[in-house]
Amino acid sequence: MTQLDDYTARFRGAMMPTVPSPLAVLSHGKGARVWDVEGNEYLDFLGGIAVNALGHAHPVFVDAVARQARRAAHISNYFASEPELALAERLKRLTGGDAVYFTNSGTEAIEAAVKLARRTGRPRILSLTSSFHGRTMGALSLTGKPALQDPFRPLLPGAEQIAPTIEALEAALADDVAAVVVEPIQGEAGVVDLPAGYLAAARELTSRVGALLILDEIQTGIGRTGDWFVYQAEDVVPDAVTLAKGLGGGFPIGALVGFGEAAQLLQPGQHGSTYGGNPLATAVSGAVLAEIEDAGLVANAALRGAQLRDAIAGMASPLVEGVSGRGLLIGVVLTAPVAKEIVAAAQERGLIVNAAADGRVRIAPPLIIGDAEIAEFTEKFAAALAAVTAQTETIPTGATA
Ligand SMILES: Cc1ncc(COP(=O)(O)O)c(C=O)c1O
Repeated sequence: MTQLDDYTARFRGAMMPTVPSPLAVLSHGKGARVWDVEGNEYLDFLGGIAVNALGHAHPVFVDAVARQARRAAHISNYFASEPELALAERLKRLTGGDAVYFTNSGTEAIEAAVKLARRTGRPRILSLTSSFHGRTMGALSLTGKPALQDPFRPLLPGAEQIAPTIEALEAALADDVAAVVVEPIQGEAGVVDLPAGYLAAARELTSRVGALLILDEIQTGIGRTGDWFVYQAEDVVPDAVTLAKGLGGGFPIGALVGFGEAAQLLQPGQHGSTYGGNPLATAVSGAVLAEIEDAGLVANAALRGAQLRDAIAGMASPLVEGVSGRGLLIGVVLTAPVAKEIVAAAQERGLIVNAAADGRVRIAPPLIIGDAEIAEFTEKFAAALAAVTAQTETIPTGATA
Protein backbone atom coordinates (compact mmCIF):
# COMPACT_ATOMS: atom_id res chain seq x y z
CA MET A 1 0.00 0.00 0.00
CA THR A 2 1.45 3.39 -1.01
CA GLN A 3 1.20 6.43 1.22
CA LEU A 4 -1.38 7.76 -1.25
CA ASP A 5 -3.55 4.64 -0.77
CA ASP A 6 -3.20 5.00 2.97
CA TYR A 7 -4.10 8.68 2.86
CA THR A 8 -7.03 8.00 0.53
CA ALA A 9 -8.37 5.42 3.00
CA ARG A 10 -8.01 7.90 5.88
CA PHE A 11 -9.61 10.59 3.74
CA ARG A 12 -12.61 8.36 3.00
CA GLY A 13 -12.86 7.37 6.65
CA ALA A 14 -12.80 10.88 8.09
CA MET A 15 -13.89 13.46 5.54
CA MET A 16 -17.24 14.15 3.89
CA PRO A 17 -16.94 12.88 0.33
CA THR A 18 -17.24 16.30 -1.30
CA VAL A 19 -14.10 16.01 -3.44
CA PRO A 20 -12.65 13.11 -5.45
CA SER A 21 -9.64 11.14 -4.23
CA PRO A 22 -6.47 13.26 -3.87
CA LEU A 23 -3.99 13.26 -6.76
CA ALA A 24 -1.04 13.19 -4.35
CA VAL A 25 -0.32 13.95 -0.73
CA LEU A 26 1.77 17.11 -0.65
CA SER A 27 4.01 17.83 2.29
CA HIS A 28 5.75 21.14 1.64
CA GLY A 29 6.83 23.62 -1.00
CA LYS A 30 9.37 26.30 -1.83
CA GLY A 31 8.83 28.91 -4.54
CA ALA A 32 7.12 27.26 -7.51
CA ARG A 33 8.02 23.76 -6.31
CA VAL A 34 6.20 21.26 -4.09
CA TRP A 35 7.12 17.86 -2.72
CA ASP A 36 4.85 14.94 -1.88
CA VAL A 37 5.20 12.71 1.16
CA GLU A 38 7.06 10.12 -0.93
CA GLY A 39 9.74 12.68 -1.80
CA ASN A 40 8.66 13.33 -5.41
CA GLU A 41 9.25 16.90 -6.59
CA TYR A 42 6.80 18.84 -8.76
CA LEU A 43 6.86 22.15 -10.57
CA ASP A 44 3.61 23.72 -9.33
CA PHE A 45 1.93 25.48 -12.25
CA LEU A 46 -1.47 25.48 -10.57
CA GLY A 47 -0.46 27.47 -7.49
CA GLY A 48 -3.29 26.24 -5.27
CA ILE A 49 -5.71 27.24 -8.09
CA ALA A 50 -4.43 30.75 -8.77
CA VAL A 51 -3.88 31.45 -5.08
CA ASN A 52 -0.16 31.22 -4.27
CA ALA A 53 0.91 34.49 -5.86
CA LEU A 54 4.31 34.40 -4.14
CA GLY A 55 4.67 30.64 -4.45
CA HIS A 56 5.23 28.47 -1.40
CA ALA A 57 6.92 29.50 1.86
CA HIS A 58 7.95 32.93 0.55
CA PRO A 59 9.89 34.68 3.36
CA VAL A 60 7.62 37.75 3.15
CA PHE A 61 4.55 35.56 3.70
CA VAL A 62 6.15 33.51 6.47
CA ASP A 63 7.45 36.59 8.31
CA ALA A 64 4.08 38.36 8.05
CA VAL A 65 2.26 35.36 9.56
CA ALA A 66 4.78 35.00 12.39
CA ARG A 67 5.04 38.73 13.16
CA GLN A 68 1.28 39.30 13.33
CA ALA A 69 0.59 36.03 15.18
CA ARG A 70 2.96 37.21 17.91
CA ARG A 71 1.03 40.51 18.21
CA ALA A 72 -2.68 39.64 17.84
CA ALA A 73 -4.26 37.15 15.45
CA HIS A 74 -7.88 38.04 16.10
CA ILE A 75 -9.75 40.80 17.91
CA SER A 76 -13.46 40.77 16.76
CA ASN A 77 -15.06 43.40 14.59
CA TYR A 78 -16.07 45.54 17.56
CA PHE A 79 -12.51 46.82 17.16
CA ALA A 80 -10.37 47.91 14.25
CA SER A 81 -6.71 47.10 13.68
CA GLU A 82 -3.91 48.82 11.83
CA PRO A 83 -3.39 45.91 9.34
CA GLU A 84 -7.09 45.96 8.43
CA LEU A 85 -7.19 49.71 7.85
CA ALA A 86 -3.90 49.69 5.93
CA LEU A 87 -5.13 46.88 3.68
CA ALA A 88 -8.45 48.63 3.00
CA GLU A 89 -6.53 51.79 2.06
CA ARG A 90 -4.13 49.85 -0.16
CA LEU A 91 -7.04 48.10 -1.91
CA LYS A 92 -8.77 51.44 -2.48
CA ARG A 93 -5.59 52.70 -4.16
CA LEU A 94 -5.06 49.55 -6.24
CA THR A 95 -8.68 49.07 -7.30
CA GLY A 96 -9.82 52.70 -7.57
CA GLY A 97 -12.76 51.76 -5.33
CA ASP A 98 -14.19 53.67 -2.38
CA ALA A 99 -14.86 51.21 0.45
CA VAL A 100 -13.90 47.65 1.32
CA TYR A 101 -15.68 44.81 3.15
CA PHE A 102 -13.48 41.85 4.17
CA THR A 103 -14.47 38.19 4.03
CA ASN A 104 -12.64 34.87 4.51
CA SER A 105 -13.15 33.37 1.05
CA GLY A 106 -14.31 34.05 -2.47
CA THR A 107 -17.78 32.68 -2.04
CA GLU A 108 -18.34 34.96 0.96
CA ALA A 109 -17.25 37.96 -1.10
CA ILE A 110 -19.95 36.97 -3.60
CA GLU A 111 -22.50 36.61 -0.78
CA ALA A 112 -21.66 40.17 0.27
CA ALA A 113 -22.11 41.26 -3.35
CA VAL A 114 -25.52 39.55 -3.46
CA LYS A 115 -26.60 41.47 -0.35
CA LEU A 116 -25.28 44.67 -1.92
CA ALA A 117 -27.43 43.92 -4.97
CA ARG A 118 -30.48 43.23 -2.80
CA ARG A 119 -30.07 46.68 -1.21
CA THR A 120 -31.03 48.26 -4.55
CA GLY A 121 -34.56 46.97 -3.88
CA ARG A 122 -34.66 45.28 -7.29
CA PRO A 123 -35.35 41.53 -7.52
CA ARG A 124 -33.26 40.14 -10.41
CA ILE A 125 -29.55 39.31 -10.38
CA LEU A 126 -28.07 38.23 -13.70
CA SER A 127 -24.95 36.14 -14.19
CA LEU A 128 -23.57 34.12 -17.10
CA THR A 129 -23.93 30.51 -18.15
CA SER A 130 -20.81 28.41 -17.38
CA SER A 131 -19.76 30.94 -14.74
CA PHE A 132 -18.41 29.99 -11.34
CA HIS A 133 -18.94 32.24 -8.33
CA GLY A 134 -18.73 29.82 -5.41
CA ARG A 135 -20.58 27.10 -3.53
CA THR A 136 -22.58 28.78 -0.77
CA MET A 137 -26.26 29.14 -1.61
CA GLY A 138 -26.22 32.72 -2.87
CA ALA A 139 -23.04 32.25 -4.88
CA LEU A 140 -24.26 28.88 -6.16
CA SER A 141 -27.44 30.57 -7.36
CA LEU A 142 -25.22 32.76 -9.58
CA THR A 143 -22.97 29.90 -10.71
CA GLY A 144 -24.09 28.98 -14.21
CA LYS A 145 -23.49 25.25 -13.96
CA PRO A 146 -26.71 23.24 -13.60
CA ALA A 147 -24.78 20.15 -12.48
CA LEU A 148 -23.63 22.06 -9.40
CA GLN A 149 -26.95 23.81 -8.83
CA ASP A 150 -29.49 21.03 -9.39
CA PRO A 151 -28.91 19.03 -6.16
CA PHE A 152 -29.61 22.18 -4.13
CA ARG A 153 -32.74 23.68 -5.63
CA PRO A 154 -34.62 25.83 -4.83
CA LEU A 155 -31.99 28.50 -5.31
CA LEU A 156 -32.09 32.22 -4.56
CA PRO A 157 -35.21 33.78 -6.13
CA GLY A 158 -34.38 36.29 -8.83
CA ALA A 159 -31.02 34.77 -9.80
CA GLU A 160 -30.88 34.10 -13.56
CA GLN A 161 -28.17 32.99 -15.95
CA ILE A 162 -27.89 34.37 -19.44
CA ALA A 163 -25.63 33.48 -22.37
CA PRO A 164 -22.29 35.31 -22.37
CA THR A 165 -23.12 37.57 -25.32
CA ILE A 166 -23.75 41.29 -25.48
CA GLU A 167 -27.07 40.61 -27.25
CA ALA A 168 -28.30 38.33 -24.44
CA LEU A 169 -27.38 40.96 -21.87
CA GLU A 170 -29.17 43.68 -23.78
CA ALA A 171 -32.27 41.50 -24.06
CA ALA A 172 -32.31 40.56 -20.36
CA LEU A 173 -31.64 43.98 -18.85
CA ALA A 174 -34.59 46.00 -17.55
CA ASP A 175 -35.22 48.30 -14.62
CA ASP A 176 -35.99 45.34 -12.31
CA VAL A 177 -32.38 44.11 -12.56
CA ALA A 178 -30.38 44.81 -9.40
CA ALA A 179 -27.02 43.66 -10.71
CA VAL A 180 -25.10 41.82 -13.38
CA VAL A 181 -22.30 39.66 -11.96
CA VAL A 182 -19.50 38.71 -14.37
CA GLU A 183 -16.11 36.99 -14.27
CA PRO A 184 -13.91 38.83 -16.80
CA ILE A 185 -12.44 35.43 -17.74
CA GLN A 186 -14.33 32.28 -16.76
CA GLY A 187 -11.62 30.47 -14.81
CA GLU A 188 -13.39 27.34 -13.60
CA ALA A 189 -15.01 26.85 -17.01
CA GLY A 190 -11.47 26.33 -18.32
CA VAL A 191 -10.19 29.90 -18.73
CA VAL A 192 -12.86 30.96 -21.20
CA ASP A 193 -12.57 34.51 -22.55
CA LEU A 194 -15.65 36.73 -22.89
CA PRO A 195 -16.48 38.21 -26.30
CA ALA A 196 -14.30 41.25 -27.09
CA GLY A 197 -15.77 44.44 -25.65
CA TYR A 198 -18.13 42.59 -23.29
CA LEU A 199 -17.14 44.45 -20.11
CA ALA A 200 -17.42 47.88 -21.73
CA ALA A 201 -20.81 46.96 -23.21
CA ALA A 202 -21.96 45.58 -19.86
CA ARG A 203 -20.92 48.85 -18.19
CA GLU A 204 -22.87 50.91 -20.66
CA LEU A 205 -25.97 48.69 -20.67
CA THR A 206 -26.18 48.34 -16.88
CA SER A 207 -25.74 52.09 -16.40
CA ARG A 208 -28.58 52.71 -18.82
CA VAL A 209 -31.08 50.81 -16.60
CA GLY A 210 -29.46 51.71 -13.26
CA ALA A 211 -28.27 48.16 -12.51
CA LEU A 212 -25.00 47.46 -10.72
CA LEU A 213 -22.08 45.94 -12.61
CA ILE A 214 -20.32 43.59 -10.21
CA LEU A 215 -17.10 42.00 -11.46
CA ASP A 216 -15.87 38.76 -9.94
CA GLU A 217 -12.08 39.07 -10.10
CA ILE A 218 -11.54 36.38 -7.49
CA GLN A 219 -9.48 34.33 -9.97
CA THR A 220 -8.35 37.02 -12.42
CA GLY A 221 -7.42 39.74 -9.92
CA ILE A 222 -4.30 40.72 -7.95
CA GLY A 223 -1.98 40.92 -10.93
CA ARG A 224 -2.45 37.43 -12.32
CA THR A 225 -3.51 38.59 -15.78
CA GLY A 226 -0.63 41.04 -16.16
CA ASP A 227 -2.74 43.95 -14.90
CA TRP A 228 -3.87 44.39 -11.32
CA PHE A 229 -7.44 43.79 -12.51
CA VAL A 230 -8.91 42.99 -15.92
CA TYR A 231 -11.41 45.87 -15.74
CA GLN A 232 -8.49 48.32 -15.54
CA ALA A 233 -6.99 46.91 -18.73
CA GLU A 234 -10.41 47.28 -20.37
CA ASP A 235 -10.89 50.80 -19.02
CA VAL A 236 -14.14 49.95 -17.28
CA VAL A 237 -15.19 51.12 -13.79
CA PRO A 238 -17.49 48.62 -12.05
CA ASP A 239 -19.84 49.29 -9.11
CA ALA A 240 -18.21 46.53 -7.11
CA VAL A 241 -15.49 43.93 -7.47
CA THR A 242 -15.03 40.69 -5.55
CA LEU A 243 -11.54 39.48 -4.61
CA ALA A 244 -10.01 36.44 -2.89
CA LYS A 245 -7.43 33.79 -3.97
CA GLY A 246 -4.26 35.82 -4.73
CA LEU A 247 -5.34 38.47 -2.21
CA GLY A 248 -3.98 36.33 0.63
CA GLY A 249 -1.37 34.44 -1.39
CA GLY A 250 -2.44 31.31 0.54
CA PHE A 251 -3.93 32.89 3.64
CA PRO A 252 -7.76 32.72 3.57
CA ILE A 253 -9.16 36.18 2.86
CA GLY A 254 -11.62 37.76 0.44
CA ALA A 255 -13.02 41.23 -0.12
CA LEU A 256 -15.85 43.14 -1.71
CA VAL A 257 -14.79 46.58 -2.93
CA GLY A 258 -17.54 49.09 -3.65
CA PHE A 259 -17.24 52.02 -6.04
CA GLY A 260 -19.17 55.31 -5.79
CA GLU A 261 -22.68 55.06 -4.38
CA ALA A 262 -22.52 51.26 -4.28
CA ALA A 263 -19.81 51.57 -1.61
CA GLN A 264 -22.44 52.90 0.83
CA LEU A 265 -25.31 50.47 0.17
CA LEU A 266 -24.59 48.16 3.10
CA GLN A 267 -25.43 50.01 6.29
CA PRO A 268 -24.38 49.32 9.92
CA GLY A 269 -25.65 45.94 11.10
CA GLN A 270 -26.57 44.74 7.62
CA HIS A 271 -23.60 42.42 7.13
CA GLY A 272 -20.75 41.01 9.14
CA SER A 273 -18.42 38.11 9.88
CA THR A 274 -16.54 37.03 12.99
CA TYR A 275 -13.26 36.57 11.18
CA GLY A 276 -13.61 38.99 8.27
CA GLY A 277 -10.78 41.52 8.27
CA ASN A 278 -8.99 40.05 11.26
CA PRO A 279 -5.47 41.36 11.88
CA LEU A 280 -3.70 38.13 10.93
CA ALA A 281 -5.39 37.75 7.53
CA THR A 282 -5.12 41.43 6.67
CA ALA A 283 -1.48 41.72 7.79
CA VAL A 284 -0.51 38.77 5.58
CA SER A 285 -2.53 40.09 2.65
CA GLY A 286 -0.95 43.54 3.06
CA ALA A 287 2.51 41.98 3.00
CA VAL A 288 1.67 39.88 -0.08
CA LEU A 289 0.36 42.93 -1.97
CA ALA A 290 3.38 45.01 -0.95
CA GLU A 291 5.70 42.30 -2.27
CA ILE A 292 3.76 42.04 -5.55
CA GLU A 293 4.20 45.82 -5.95
CA ASP A 294 7.83 46.01 -4.79
CA ALA A 295 9.03 43.04 -6.85
CA GLY A 296 7.18 44.12 -10.01
CA LEU A 297 5.23 40.87 -10.16
CA VAL A 298 2.33 42.26 -12.19
CA ALA A 299 4.70 43.09 -15.04
CA ASN A 300 6.35 39.70 -14.51
CA ALA A 301 2.97 38.00 -14.94
CA ALA A 302 2.53 39.74 -18.30
CA LEU A 303 6.06 38.87 -19.46
CA ARG A 304 6.00 35.24 -18.30
CA GLY A 305 2.50 34.77 -19.66
CA ALA A 306 3.69 35.86 -23.11
CA GLN A 307 6.68 33.50 -22.87
CA LEU A 308 4.42 30.59 -21.89
CA ARG A 309 2.10 31.30 -24.81
CA ASP A 310 5.07 31.27 -27.21
CA ALA A 311 6.37 28.08 -25.63
CA ILE A 312 3.02 26.30 -25.99
CA ALA A 313 2.66 27.44 -29.60
CA GLY A 314 6.23 26.21 -30.24
CA MET A 315 5.23 22.70 -29.13
CA ALA A 316 3.10 22.47 -32.29
CA SER A 317 1.14 19.63 -30.68
CA PRO A 318 -1.78 18.17 -32.64
CA LEU A 319 -3.65 18.16 -29.31
CA VAL A 320 -3.45 21.95 -28.92
CA GLU A 321 -5.92 24.12 -30.75
CA GLY A 322 -4.89 27.39 -29.09
CA VAL A 323 -4.48 29.29 -25.87
CA SER A 324 -7.00 31.41 -23.92
CA GLY A 325 -6.76 33.78 -20.96
CA ARG A 326 -4.32 36.55 -20.11
CA GLY A 327 -0.97 36.80 -18.34
CA LEU A 328 -0.52 33.88 -16.00
CA LEU A 329 -4.09 32.63 -16.22
CA ILE A 330 -3.83 30.39 -19.26
CA GLY A 331 -6.18 27.86 -20.81
CA VAL A 332 -4.70 25.37 -23.23
CA VAL A 333 -7.59 24.68 -25.57
CA LEU A 334 -7.42 21.08 -26.76
CA THR A 335 -8.54 19.41 -29.97
CA ALA A 336 -9.84 16.40 -27.99
CA PRO A 337 -11.32 15.93 -24.49
CA VAL A 338 -8.05 14.63 -23.02
CA ALA A 339 -7.28 17.24 -20.33
CA LYS A 340 -7.31 14.67 -17.52
CA GLU A 341 -4.89 12.42 -19.42
CA ILE A 342 -2.54 15.34 -20.03
CA VAL A 343 -2.68 16.37 -16.38
CA ALA A 344 -1.86 12.79 -15.29
CA ALA A 345 1.01 12.55 -17.81
CA ALA A 346 2.35 15.91 -16.58
CA GLN A 347 2.14 14.81 -12.95
CA GLU A 348 4.11 11.64 -13.77
CA ARG A 349 6.81 13.94 -15.16
CA GLY A 350 6.83 16.22 -12.10
CA LEU A 351 4.55 19.00 -13.32
CA ILE A 352 1.25 20.09 -11.75
CA VAL A 353 -1.34 21.60 -14.08
CA ASN A 354 -5.13 21.26 -13.96
CA ALA A 355 -7.98 19.87 -16.05
CA ALA A 356 -10.47 22.71 -15.57
CA ALA A 357 -12.67 21.22 -18.32
CA ASP A 358 -12.46 18.03 -20.42
CA GLY A 359 -11.03 19.96 -23.34
CA ARG A 360 -8.97 22.58 -21.48
CA VAL A 361 -5.88 22.49 -19.31
CA ARG A 362 -5.57 25.40 -16.89
CA ILE A 363 -2.19 26.87 -16.04
CA ALA A 364 -1.97 29.34 -13.13
CA PRO A 365 1.56 29.39 -11.74
CA PRO A 366 2.83 31.68 -8.99
CA LEU A 367 3.61 35.22 -10.21
CA ILE A 368 7.27 34.81 -9.19
CA ILE A 369 8.25 32.37 -11.95
CA GLY A 370 11.30 33.10 -14.09
CA ASP A 371 13.29 31.68 -17.02
CA ALA A 372 14.21 28.43 -15.25
CA GLU A 373 10.58 27.54 -14.45
CA ILE A 374 9.45 28.40 -17.99
CA ALA A 375 12.15 26.15 -19.45
CA GLU A 376 11.23 23.29 -17.12
CA PHE A 377 7.52 23.68 -17.83
CA THR A 378 8.20 23.68 -21.58
CA GLU A 379 10.13 20.44 -21.44
CA LYS A 380 7.67 18.64 -19.16
CA PHE A 381 4.46 19.85 -20.75
CA ALA A 382 5.73 19.04 -24.27
CA ALA A 383 6.63 15.53 -23.05
CA ALA A 384 3.17 15.10 -21.49
CA LEU A 385 1.47 16.21 -24.71
CA ALA A 386 3.65 13.84 -26.74
CA ALA A 387 2.82 10.93 -24.43
CA VAL A 388 -0.92 11.55 -24.68
CA THR A 389 -0.66 12.02 -28.45
CA ALA A 390 1.03 8.62 -28.67
CA GLN A 391 -1.67 7.01 -26.48
CA THR A 392 -4.43 8.59 -28.56
CA GLU A 393 -2.82 7.34 -31.77
CA THR A 394 -2.60 3.76 -30.48
CA ILE A 395 -6.34 3.58 -29.71
CA PRO A 396 -7.87 1.55 -32.56
CA THR A 397 -10.52 3.40 -34.61
CA GLY A 398 -13.96 2.84 -33.18
CA ALA A 399 -12.71 1.96 -29.69
CA THR A 400 -13.46 4.26 -26.80
CA ALA A 401 -10.59 5.41 -24.62
C1 LIG B 1 -14.31 33.48 -10.15
C2 LIG B 1 -14.50 32.80 -8.84
N1 LIG B 1 -15.43 33.26 -7.99
C3 LIG B 1 -15.65 32.69 -6.79
C4 LIG B 1 -14.91 31.60 -6.39
C5 LIG B 1 -15.15 31.00 -5.04
O1 LIG B 1 -14.06 31.25 -4.19
P1 LIG B 1 -13.81 30.35 -2.90
O2 LIG B 1 -13.46 28.99 -3.39
O3 LIG B 1 -12.67 31.04 -2.18
O4 LIG B 1 -15.06 30.36 -2.09
C6 LIG B 1 -13.94 31.08 -7.24
C7 LIG B 1 -13.17 29.88 -6.86
O5 LIG B 1 -12.65 29.17 -7.67
C8 LIG B 1 -13.72 31.69 -8.50
O6 LIG B 1 -12.80 31.23 -9.36
